[in-house]
Amino acid sequence: MMKAILVKQPGGAEQLELGEYPLPEHHSDELLVRVKATALNRADILQRGGKYPPPRGASPILGLEISGIVEEVGGNCSAWHRGDRVCALLPGGGYAQYVSIPAKMAVPIPDNLSFEEAAAVPEAFLTAFQALYWLGGLQGGQQVLIHAGASGVGTAAIQLARQAGSIALITAGSARKLDFCLQLGAKVAINYRDGEFAAHILEATQNQGVNIIVDCVGGAYWEQNIQSLAVDGRLVLLATMGGGTVSQVILTTIIRKRLQIIGTTLRGREREYKTELTRDFVTRIMPGFEDGRYKAVIDAVFPWEEAAEAHRRMEDNLNLGKIVLTVGD
Ligand SMILES: NC(=O)c1ccc[n+]([C@@H]2O[C@H](COP(=O)([O-])OP(=O)(O)OC[C@H]3O[C@@H](n4cnc5c(N)ncnc54)[C@H](OP(=O)(O)O)[C@@H]3O)[C@@H](O)[C@H]2O)c1
Repeated sequence: MMKAILVKQPGGAEQLELGEYPLPEHHSDELLVRVKATALNRADILQRGGKYPPPRGASPILGLEISGIVEEVGGNCSAWHRGDRVCALLPGGGYAQYVSIPAKMAVPIPDNLSFEEAAAVPEAFLTAFQALYWLGGLQGGQQVLIHAGASGVGTAAIQLARQAGSIALITAGSARKLDFCLQLGAKVAINYRDGEFAAHILEATQNQGVNIIVDCVGGAYWEQNIQSLAVDGRLVLLATMGGGTVSQVILTTIIRKRLQIIGTTLRGREREYKTELTRDFVTRIMPGFEDGRYKAVIDAVFPWEEAAEAHRRMEDNLNLGKIVLTVGD
């Protein structure tokens, strides 16, 4: 058995408790990792409330990413050794002392990154990397609008857009978050509470609009997103925090501007897709963590006994970047 954070019954943060759970099995193409840290994602809040069941075959334990130390190496994983420091994206199971991960999805942790920093990288950066590079077709010189700019995904997307030589514009809900995003490299920061963001976007882009939007708000932003996109623009839809339905669909504008609307979810993707995404990310982006071009943006670190407190911080929209949990003995 191992220790893990369990959900007593679907509900609020008070339902989280430290308990015991069977050790994960691991196969010949997998590594058994002793988890040192994990990080929170919005999906954890939904899953805790019973609104986001894990995909088939995934652990029912919360947690979509970890960092840790390889404890056992499967027979077909000759590139890895006991004691290696790794981080990884998971379909679930991160709030636990042990996880087994496909060796091909393990990311070596650069020496200059702590376990806390490494745990904050996989979900935010792979989501932003997928949205901008694989789905958005990001190129230097483009303009990119990132909603929820101070979120885990948003702070990763700002850095990726900037390092690609494109211009990041963001929205967020407080002056503190706007300042934070500007310091991280955003060129334009708009408080969505001050009125419609689309007018600001058109002004900032000399009425051209943006080439890519990374959106996790959905319904409430639909019309303004369509207005804000440039010709041939792409809207990459990650979530629907602002509603899952739209009353007006402006089809003529979509046709006239030749827009692409792309929905995605990383968690439920095939293992092969996530492996390929991870390998591409390791090659193209991870070197930037070693030389300081990228940083893990950490809002707060909590010991896992305080997981409920950490969840409340995210639910109250207080975090600037990632909230990390250290996993105890
Ligand atoms: N599809 C995928 O594969 C995928 C993968 C990872 C994450 N996601 C999604 O991406 C989003 C960001 O995830 P995260 O873990 O990085 O989030 P996070 O750090 O918890 O940040 C989310 C932020 O969104 C803003 N927000 C919340 N409700 C809003 C609303 N109704 N309208 C406008 N802004 C709102 C809040 O900031 P303000 O104070 O600025 O309002 C909040 O702090 C989440 O929705 C998550 O579910 C999707």
